[in-house]
Order: sequence, then structure tokens, then C-alpha cells
Amino acid sequence: MSFNEPIHRSENHRAENEAGNGSSHPDSIPPPFTDDDFLPSEAVRSIPAQPDRANVLLYIDQVSKWFGNVHAITDITIWANRGEITAIVGDNGAGKSTLIKCISGVHGPTAGQVFLDGKPVHFTSPEDARRAGIETVYQTLALCNDLTIWQNLFLNREMVNHWGPLSFLDQRAMRRRSAEMLSRLEVNIPSINARVRRLSGGQRQAVAISRAAGWGSRLVIMDEPTAALGVRETARVEELILRLRDDGLAVLLISHNFDQVMRLSNQIWVMRSGRLVGGRRTQDTSGKELVSMITGAQQEEAL
Ligand SMILES: Nc1ncnc2c1ncn2[C@@H]1O[C@H](COP(=O)(O)OP(=O)(O)OP(=O)(O)O)[C@@H](O)[C@H]1O
Ligand SMILES: [Mg+2]
Repeated sequence: MSFNEPIHRSENHRAENEAGNGSSHPDSIPPPFTDDDFLPSEAVRSIPAQPDRANVLLYIDQVSKWFGNVHAITDITIWANRGEITAIVGDNGAGKSTLIKCISGVHGPTAGQVFLDGKPVHFTSPEDARRAGIETVYQTLALCNDLTIWQNLFLNREMVNHWGPLSFLDQRAMRRRSAEMLSRLEVNIPSINARVRRLSGGQRQAVAISRAAGWGSRLVIMDEPTAALGVRETARVEELILRLRDDGLAVLLISHNFDQVMRLSNQIWVMRSGRLVGGRRTQDTSGKELVSMITGAQQEEAL
């Protein structure tokens, strides 16, 4: 697998082109890295053994994303295995969402490289990432309230029948396939013809997860999927997440809920102030340790 090959940062610098991230002025390209950019040994010690090549689907190698002078993330190296739930935790502003946007094609990394299945990938848009099997469920779900469930499932992926020069949407096939997608995950919804506006928060999240899981995806990224949900709805969504894992997908889960992270995940990466401060197999850590890593208490104790 090629992700262990050295990466030359200078080759990976990209011009900034996202809206709201400053200009493409040369000043926005970060200066060369110095020794001060690297974390003290505490972080290095806490990172688990090297990835198991056979199981790693996603490998993120020294990725940074800087918006002008804002160093949202710097030098992040993490990985996610197939058939596992990998959690990313950290305080508000730690850089979690920025990191996943560098994977899902929203941002191009300022430096570093993303590997999928051992191959370097350079996504220029979320559609690009989707074509490679990476689906993202955002907290703001990006469902269209005025469309039905099946129309949302097929948004931008409509099935079309051709009749001579004419083409028609194959509504029947899309409805049938929608019912299959929802039943595979045992999603509890009134009808695939119901408008999303009428669904509860949990049902909407279930539709979004079904959409993410239904397109031959290999990696499903979830940014706070249950933050806005009640206890019962959270339990349903957690079942769906476990089902994706059991289907062999890699799941990347951002969550502020330690209980949830400890219950669901196999691997946990901890971020603080745009840096990786550690990684643990879930069975080898505790909520208490995670809190101390997130807040930096552990580092202070060590001093
Ligand atoms: N487009 C942007 N332009 C400038 N700064 C940004 C941009 N996006 C994120 N940032 C900054 O990067 C840092 C990390 O933000 P990010 O949204 O990744 O944090 P987070 O860990 O997801 O936080 P939360 O838990 O609150 O969602 C913050 O300081 C934020 O202000
Ligand atoms: Mg976020």
C-alpha cells in the first residue's frame, strides 16, 4: 500500500479556492513547517500501533487546512478501518468538521494527502468524493423538505428511461429501490411518498443515513448525527450506525457524546486546537481519559 511512502508537503500545497477563506494571495500558503509545529512526545506516545494495512480503508497523512492565518487543522495523521466505527472527538473549534470536509471533498487540504484504499485521492467536490464511495451525513441534513422521501433518496441520481429521443424519470423503479434501501436498514417511516417536512428528527436522520448507505458507499462520515435527537430517536440512529459497521463499511463518527463514543466506536482519535493529541482503541480507554486528553489536563499533569 502506498500510504507509507513519504509525502512531500510542497507538492501538496493547493491554492485556496473555497468561499469565505480569504484570497488566493500567496500569503495564504503556509510557510515551511518548523520543529515547533510538531507535538510534544505526549501525543506521539498515545497514538496506537501502526495501521493494519489489510483493514485500513481511509488514511489521512499529515493533513493541514489553513484559512489564511487561521490554522484550522495542522498535520493530522489518522486512519479508519473497514467494518469499524472510528470516532473523532474534541472540543468546539478543535477542527473536527474541517478535517472531515478535507475528506469529503468540501475543502482541498492545504498540505498532506488523503488515501482511500491505499490510493491517493484529490476530490474537487463532494460529488467527486461520492463517486469514490464517500458519503457524508451532516448535522444540517441537506434534505429537501418539500420533496418526498423517495425523491430525496434519488436527488441528483434520478433513474431515467429513454424512449427514442425522449427521456422519462422512472418513478416506479425509484420508489421500489427506495423501499429496498429503507427496509435494508429497517427504517421506520410512514411511507416513501411522505414529504420530509412531516418527518420527526430521527426519521429524517434515518433517511439521510439510508441515502448515504445506499449507493455502494465504502465510507460514511457522520458529523454529530444525534445531537438534535431525543433518547428514542438517538437509539434508532445508533442502531443504523451499527448496521453500517456490520455491513463492512468504515464509519467516521464525530460526536460530543462520550457515552455514545464509548458504546459504538472501535477506535477514537482526539483533537485539540487543530492538532491530533492522541488515538486509542476504545477498549483501552475511558471517558475520563478522553476528557483529560480533550482539555489538555493530562499534558499538564505530566509536566
Ligand atoms: N471556512 C472557514 N474559514 C475560516 N476559519 C474557519 C473556517 N472553517 C472553520 N474555521 C475555523 O477552524 C477552526 C475549527 O473549526 P471546526 O468547525 O473544524 O471545529 P469543530 O471541531 O468541528 O467544532 P464544533 O465541535 O464546534 O463543531 C475554528 O477556529 C473555526 O473558526
Ligand atoms: Mg463541527
